[in-house]
Amino acid sequence: MRKKALISGLILIVAALVIFSTTTVSSKNAGSFKYVGVSKCVTCHKTEAQGKQQDIWQNSQHSKAFKTLQTEAADKIAKDKGFNTKAAETPQCVKCHVLGKDIVADELAESFNKEDGVQCESCHGPGSEYKAMSIMKDKQKSIENGMNPISDINQLCTGCHNSESPTFKDFKFDEMWGKIKHNKAK
Ligand code: HEC
Ligand code: HEC
Ligand code: HEC
Ligand code: HEC
Repeated sequence: MRKKALISGLILIVAALVIFSTTTVSSKNAGSFKYVGVSKCVTCHKTEAQGKQQDIWQNSQHSKAFKTLQTEAADKIAKDKGFNTKAAETPQCVKCHVLGKDIVADELAESFNKEDGVQCESCHGPGSEYKAMSIMKDKQKSIENGMNPISDINQLCTGCHNSESPTFKDFKFDEMWGKIKHNKAK
């Protein structure tokens, strides 16, 4: 009997420790990863050897996605959709033209600029913690520190390239990825 009580006591302690440690880890993570903006990524990701991510992104439509919302054509689309705010001030438009989700002030570092449109972190996740060289070098550590593991590229794209977009026609993955892929020189 005493042995049984001792064992169930131990189980309770272990369970309490597990619950304690997982809740503290998740509450830390939830608040600590912020979007820092493309300017903080391209300091390292611009050379030929790294894969020229800066140039490829700058020359793609993604870097212009917010400016697109600041046009008369965009305002007309927003109006036709029943919004009475300008496109660039309509959260339902801004979400796909910046992060792919609603913009929450608490999740943005001061350096983040929504006018840079769809940027590195829109696909790779909030980089305030993983952008440190010591973490970046290690993919697993980066993922633990906010980097999106991207298990399915097509699914990442169709999170924004879908029929919820007022101008959507279709999405041909191979062709579209061909226009923006930015792999390292091998
Ligand atoms: C201090 C320099 C530095 C900064 C700043 C930096 N990176 Fe990196 N990044 C690296 C290095 C080094 C690697 C490892 C590349 C390699 O394997 O050659 C890397 C790898 C990556 C990878 C590939 C991960 C993998 O292995 O699949 C991604 C994606 C990435 N960085 C995105 C970003 C984003 C987004 C930002 C901005 C939030 C950023 N980086 C900021 C240096 C940096
Ligand atoms: C956060 C939302 C978002 C995600 C995720 C996203 N896109 Fe886009 N993409 C856009 C928006 C918005 C535009 C329109 C920009 C504009 O024209 O102003 C666009 C435009 C493009 C264009 C230019 C249009 C054209 O026909 O040439 C290409 C290419 C493209 N995306 C490829 C991709 C690929 C490939 C992926 C996945 C790896 C992807 N996008 C993921 C939002 C996104
Ligand atoms: C579900 C994500 C999503 C939403 C919501 C969204 N967009 Fe877009 N938008 C895109 C993508 C992706 C593209 C590029 C490909 C396409 O046309 O679907 C785009 C392209 C555009 C273009 C350029 C079209 C062209 O032919 O050059 C305009 C203008 C635009 N969007 C305005 C808006 C406005 C205004 C709203 C809000 C009423 C809005 N978008 C909401 C994802 C979205
Ligand atoms: C539209 C989404 C999207 C945007 C915007 C984007 N990336 Fe990527 N990136 C991807 C995808 C998808 C991959 C490929 C992942 C894979 O192969 O598993 C990738 C791969 C990478 C890699 C790894 C390259 C290699 O060969 O190992 C680096 C580094 C990287 N991105 C950095 C950046 C930086 C820096 C920016 C901004 C200047 C950026 N990315 C913008 C979607 C994006």
